[in-house]
Amino acid sequence: MKILITAGPTREYIDDVRFLSNASSGRMGYCLAEAAIAAGHEVVLVSGPVDLPVPEGARVSLIETTSELRQSCLELFPRCDGVIATAAVCDYRPHERISGKLTKTGRPITLELTETSDVLAELGEQKEHRWVVGFALESQDPRNNAMRKLRMKQCDCIVLNDTSAISSLENTVEILSPEAETMAVMNGLKSEIAEKLIGFIEREIAR
Ligand code: CTP
Repeated sequence: MKILITAGPTREYIDDVRFLSNASSGRMGYCLAEAAIAAGHEVVLVSGPVDLPVPEGARVSLIETTSELRQSCLELFPRCDGVIATAAVCDYRPHERISGKLTKTGRPITLELTETSDVLAELGEQKEHRWVVGFALESQDPRNNAMRKLRMKQCDCIVLNDTSAISSLENTVEILSPEAETMAVMNGLKSEIAEKLIGFIEREIAR
């Protein structure tokens, strides 16, 4: 199969040197890319800024902003069999990016934020015969929130994890079906989960 994987954080610039982002390490997405390649698949990795080596054998598209993530994914997805979306996307961007460097005034400032595009929801709308696997990082009401995202983004399944996954080498995930059933529970190193998840997708999702 040819698999599109999104990974890492996106950045939304306030001015030319400052940005909003999050603490995603990108590790889960990179482990999935490695596991998919090891299993004989072709991988296209669309990655935000991370401190990880490029997985050998993957085609990588490096992006920074959510808009760049969207552009790359919309271009690549039609030529793939499915997508695994692990990217921790910045949901808001400053309404305008100030050119140069904002100078401090001694007074509080207010940032006006605008919602960014939901990339996975757009891929879900265009999926046709392709499969879509989403990730949901939840700190409250995890199952209901994950199921809302699965439906909104037309996912074939969603991988639910909690905030302890951020920056950790390990993770515990529960995979939920569109019928809200638990399809699998996996825990261990992210590299081990990645291997299991690729096997799971081959057996249960990409049929
Ligand atoms: N996602 C995406 N584009 C966005 C937001 C999220 O493609 N703008 C993808 C993520 O890569 C993940 C899934 O959608 O696979 C769920 O992401 P998450 O951050 O958990 O949820 P959000 O939809 O952003 O909702 P919220 O932040 O309100 O929890």
